[in-house]
Amino acid sequence: MGSSSDDGNNNLLSKIAISDQHAENSPYFDGWKAYDSNPYHSLKNPDGLSFDLIEEWIKNNPTASICTSQGVGQFKDIAIFQDYHGLPQFRKAIAMFMERVRGHRVSFDPDRVVMAGGATGANELIMFCLANPGDAFLVPSPYYPAFDRDLSWRTGVQLIPVHCHSSNDFKITKQALEEAYENAIQSGINVKGLLLANPSNPLGTNLETQHLKDLVNFINERQIHLVCDEIYSATVFSQPDFVSVAEMIQEMEFVNRDLIHIVYSLSKDMGLPGFRVGIVYSYNDVVVSCGRKMSSFGLVSSQTQLFLANLLSDQVFIDKFLAESSKRLGARHKIFTEGLEEIGIKCLKSNAGLFFWMDLRPLLKESSFEAEMALWRVIVHDVKLNVSPGSSFHCSEAGWFRVCFANMDEETVQVALKRIRKFVGGKQVEVPKKSKLRWQKSLRLSFSSRLLEEGSMSPHSPLVRART
Ligand SMILES: Cc1ncc(COP(=O)(O)O)c(C=O)c1O
Repeated sequence: MGSSSDDGNNNLLSKIAISDQHAENSPYFDGWKAYDSNPYHSLKNPDGLSFDLIEEWIKNNPTASICTSQGVGQFKDIAIFQDYHGLPQFRKAIAMFMERVRGHRVSFDPDRVVMAGGATGANELIMFCLANPGDAFLVPSPYYPAFDRDLSWRTGVQLIPVHCHSSNDFKITKQALEEAYENAIQSGINVKGLLLANPSNPLGTNLETQHLKDLVNFINERQIHLVCDEIYSATVFSQPDFVSVAEMIQEMEFVNRDLIHIVYSLSKDMGLPGFRVGIVYSYNDVVVSCGRKMSSFGLVSSQTQLFLANLLSDQVFIDKFLAESSKRLGARHKIFTEGLEEIGIKCLKSNAGLFFWMDLRPLLKESSFEAEMALWRVIVHDVKLNVSPGSSFHCSEAGWFRVCFANMDEETVQVALKRIRKFVGGKQVEVPKKSKLRWQKSLRLSFSSRLLEEGSMSPHSPLVRART
């Protein structure tokens, strides 16, 4: 791509085009770029935790697609379908799937299912419906780095972090929420709502019932919106069970439902990010109607809709898939976090998601984000492990890193553990007793200071990968 001077482009292009709110220069994306330039290939190299199950289903159901000799009879009808409401059977299957993931404790109306291009598109779509440029949404931090792109870049909506801390396992406190809200109001900012990722990316935890109830009360008292991004709802592999905002408002009598909106996608729960299937499920009729018209900008292709309508309607398969997927996630999470614990590395206790939140504070040269970045560079470029630094998630404490585990097979997890063990000094580190895990000062000492110097980045061996 040709480069022209910034000043030149300032005059030539739109404000959106020249703004850097896409956040592509964040270390979160840099990790992926480093990985892509030098990926790790295990012998089996599975690219998704439960793809084998879907592949088997496809083989057994050749009529589900228009691109097989058995399914081609529907080709013409599907190829010309472009209604932004979506295929009725697709919306019905999505609603059923969302019910199944929530243990049939709540029902969803297919007529409220609005299509978008992944949760990325769904999050932007809901912002366009709820807020004007300059308006703000509160977002508990640490939060998914691409929220800055998805919610703000093109909409002009501001995100105000509500800082959460390790002292209470990064739980959102009423005090922090009220402070962020009041400060914004005093600064003349129009706060339109609260965005929650439940389960959380990057923490891998989900909100407990009372906590979620308090948050619903918070927005209801102020009559601001609540957007719940529930795209990891089926990744919960141990207690506490996932509770959706849909269940919560069913129980609460005095909630203004016009304020409640769910963002969903099949990228994580079904492991199909390439299909770009995103959903807005709103209880507000005007939002549903406006969102549907906006679907034109991010339609799910009709052949994908048809295929998924067939796949998701197979209840027996979906039950098996969800059970197996959460079992595999739990097992992988256990091996990885227990392996780290043996090395003396602690992680936030988590029960969901495709990642965990690793505490490397004792390994920082000093408690600063500069030191965090220095450590991150070493981990990505020398240890060859794709982790993301907490600062890219707007974490207010230096030294936390997100580690993805879901796309690694067991062998890859062992490779990753071996590299980390070597990095922290391996045998030199005293293995802490499980019952009273304490940080070892020796961990920090075991670092090679050469590794912490910039310029030691020359990826020669493969990066261990897990993308999310
Ligand atoms: C919390 C959260 N929301 C939205 C997205 C975007 O998902 P999609 O691939 O469906 O656009 C992600 C992806 O990692 C995410 O973690």
